[in-house]
Formats: sequence, structure tokens, C-alpha cells
Amino acid sequence: MTFPKNFLWGGDISANQAEGGWNEGGKSPNMTDYHLGGNINTPRMATYIMPDGTRGKTPAIMECLNLPKGAKLAVFEDEFYPNHKATDFYHHYKEDIALFAEMGFKVLNLTLSWARVYPWGVEKGINKQGIEFYHNVFSECKKYNIEPLVHLYKYDMPAFYITEKGGWRNRELIDEFVTFAQTAVNEFQEVTYWSTFNEINVLQAIAIEKDNQANYEKLHNQLVASARVVKYVHDNYPQKKIGCMVAGLFTHALTCDPLDEAANQKQMQDIYYYCADTFVRGHYPSYAQRLWKELGVNLYISEQDRNDLENGKVDFLEFSYYSSNVITTHKNEGQGVSGNLLGGFKNPYLQVSDWGWAIDPAGLKYFMHEMYDRYQIPLFNCENGLGAYDTLEENGTVHDTYRIAYHKEHIKAMGEAIDEGVDLMGYTTWGCLDLVSAGTGEIRKRYGFIYVDVDDKGNGTYRRYKKDSFYWYKKCIESNGKDLD
Ligand code: BG6
Repeated sequence: MTFPKNFLWGGDISANQAEGGWNEGGKSPNMTDYHLGGNINTPRMATYIMPDGTRGKTPAIMECLNLPKGAKLAVFEDEFYPNHKATDFYHHYKEDIALFAEMGFKVLNLTLSWARVYPWGVEKGINKQGIEFYHNVFSECKKYNIEPLVHLYKYDMPAFYITEKGGWRNRELIDEFVTFAQTAVNEFQEVTYWSTFNEINVLQAIAIEKDNQANYEKLHNQLVASARVVKYVHDNYPQKKIGCMVAGLFTHALTCDPLDEAANQKQMQDIYYYCADTFVRGHYPSYAQRLWKELGVNLYISEQDRNDLENGKVDFLEFSYYSSNVITTHKNEGQGVSGNLLGGFKNPYLQVSDWGWAIDPAGLKYFMHEMYDRYQIPLFNCENGLGAYDTLEENGTVHDTYRIAYHKEHIKAMGEAIDEGVDLMGYTTWGCLDLVSAGTGEIRKRYGFIYVDVDDKGNGTYRRYKKDSFYWYKKCIESNGKDLD
């Protein structure tokens, strides 16, 4: 296995899941600040208030929620909101980045909180404290020669855009986002690697909002916004690289029945390739017409939108990869499993995580080939990890052999794919520092190499501890992926 010399090894965190400081430094509340915690059986809910003062809760995941008419998102003092303090990167970033440096990170994948930079929209102006915070974070990274890879959007739009403007369905949001992005790119000259949207395809996978027309309009607006930002970076900063990211909602056919193969091909087109085909190739794929027809979607695409998409093709494709699912036309075929946004039938060949997600390193290699053959642009595996229960021992150690085994197999798979011709720029492990789970809101669903002493209700010292995987990943990076034992 030969990882390239300049391979970008590192880790990944996101503002809303790690930063905390939800109402500090001039930040306005974002969508996830209204999310309560859930667990494997209980979905996350957002809290709201009706004009007559009655309180309510509605299912909310990532950027999707369904607010009743007239409801306003609201935070209540007697409820606990895990993202408010998260794992407090906001106050611990120096210590955390020093720990990342100790592991040898070449890159830190993180997101900007839009609500920290433009808390109340472009018209109300930039928040200088937010800008200063991110300059501090980046200069801390640079101190250790860690390149920041900065995502501009990850499920955390300032909440007033939803309640006052109708969210992404409103085309004004395109201009708001593009201005925010241009400001960020101009301001943070120290950043070379940018990405527009994190897991842009989640809107297609989350079933909370059942309005297909609305969802596909939102997604269209995001794809156009993304393309405009890509073009802006290409025109003004040709030395920088910019990508966009898809959630790795990868599926296999459960059986060799050709009907299963066809159903799986359709699933992959509809939920995975639809966005990537558009932002890599610069136009919607041919099967989009079929999909829109099936969903009853009538999408208005202006000439300007088409030009924007055509002129805003990304430099690299980022994907997340946690697990895979299976698709079948055969009913009642085996048991059900959960997964990253997608659930489905159990793959009889794979083990599952504590949260029931299938563990599929061979699938990683397979899908990397599929993507690279399709697009022929560099790939970036920017989220991969195992959510598991960890035990902090009395002496401050955490023996997470299961996490080491998980990463080891996935790194091997990536190495083989590279050896077989795939161009992979980098690998950032998800939640390298423990953080709040996006799907369930738990902290005990830990992904990190660094343990944060806090529980699902926010109790704890927030002290950081190095897990066994911390030392293992350090060795892996030092040896450029050769020493995985
Ligand atoms: C990814 C998201 O899809 O899955 C992350 O980008 C998320 O934000 C990760 O944390 C793992 O999912 P979960 O639900 O275990 O946090």
C-alpha cells in the first residue's frame, strides 16, 4: 500500500457538533441550537412556541424539520440542548489543535458556523468576533503546519433564515450564502482548501419533510449557490482548491437477481449520484428527468442557473463513508438494520456497530473505484469513523480496540484503491475529538481519538483524554499509512 507523499491525513469536526459557545461571541442561534438530544430509539426533536404561547416539539434531524404554521423555534430553560456547549471546542481549541498536532495531522477538516460570521444576514453585517475566532483557530493550525480544510455549510444555517425567510426554498438564500462564502474566502487567506456544502444530498434522504417539490427546490438552490462559490474561487484564487461533499449513502444489491441490481442502480442514482453528477459535471444527469417525474417535482431552472452550474465544477469530490446498506425487491428478506440516514435490510456478510450500522471496508474500495471511474477527479474521504460506547478507565485511559480495528481495515481498503489507480487526496476521520452525534444527539456515541469527559446531559469536566486509538493513529500517520498494527 502506497499512500502518496503529500497525502492529507487528519481528522474532522463540525462547528455545531463540537464548538458549543452557541450564544457567545456575537453568534446567533442556528438550526441545531433548537435540537434536543435523542437516542437510538427516540428521534431528535426541535422545540418551538406557537403565537398563543403553547410549546411544541417536532422531529428534526440535521437541516430538516417540519414546523407547524405560525410556530417559532424557541429555546426553553428547562430543556437540555446538547449542541449548545457540545464538546466546547470554542474554549478548548488551542489544546485540541495541539493534540491533533501531536497525532501528526496534516489537515484539519472543520466547518465555519455561518451564524458566527453573519449572525443576522448580510445586511446586518459581519460579526468581527466570529472572524477573529476563526483566524485564531487557523493560526493555531498553521503553527503546527496543519492545513485547514474548511466547509462553508453543515446543517447550521442561522435559524432566522428559516423562520423569517422560509429557508433554502427562498432564492434570496443563494445570494446570502454566496456573499457569506465570498467574505470567508477573501478574509481567510490562510485557507487553501475549501468546500461548499457538507453532505449536500441529505435533503434527498431524510424523510421528515415529505414535500418533494420543496426539497428539490431547496437542493437546486444549494447546488446553484455551491457552483457560484466554486466559480468565484476559481476566478479569484486559482491557486486554491474547492470541492463539495456528498453523504456516502452507498448501497449494494442484496441478491444477484437482476431486478435487485436495477433497483440498486436506481437507488444510487437517486440518492448518491444525483448531486455529485451535477456539481462535478456541471449539469443535471439524464436520469434526473425520470426522478423528478416519479416524485412529481417540477423544477424551474433558469438559463442563468444552467450557466452557473456549468461554470462551477468542483476540483475534488468529497464523500463520507461509515457503512453501506442493501437494496432488494424481495420483501421480508432478512432483518432490518439502521445506518447513516439510510436503514434497510441486513447484509448477511457484514458485522454491525453498536448502533446497528454495517461495517464494510471492502465496500469503501469498491465505491472509490466507482466514483473515480465516473468522475476522474481527485477524491477526498472526509468522514469515516465508528460510533461506539467507550469506557474511561480510572487511570484516564480508553481501550478502544474496536475503533482501531475499524480504521485499520478502512485505511487498508483506501491504500489498495490507491494502488489500483484511484486518486485520493486525503482522509479525515470523523469526530477525531468526541462530539455530539448529529443523528441522535448523544455524546456517548463517540467517534474520537480524544475522549471528552462529558455525558449526554452535559455533566462532566470536559477534560480531554487520549484513547488508545490516539497513539495508533499517530503511528499510522508517521509511517504514511504503513504501520497499522
Ligand atoms: C455524517 C454527518 O453523515 O454522519 C456527521 O456528516 C455525523 O455530522 C456523522 O455526525 C455520524 O452520524 P451520527 O448520527 O452518528 O452523528
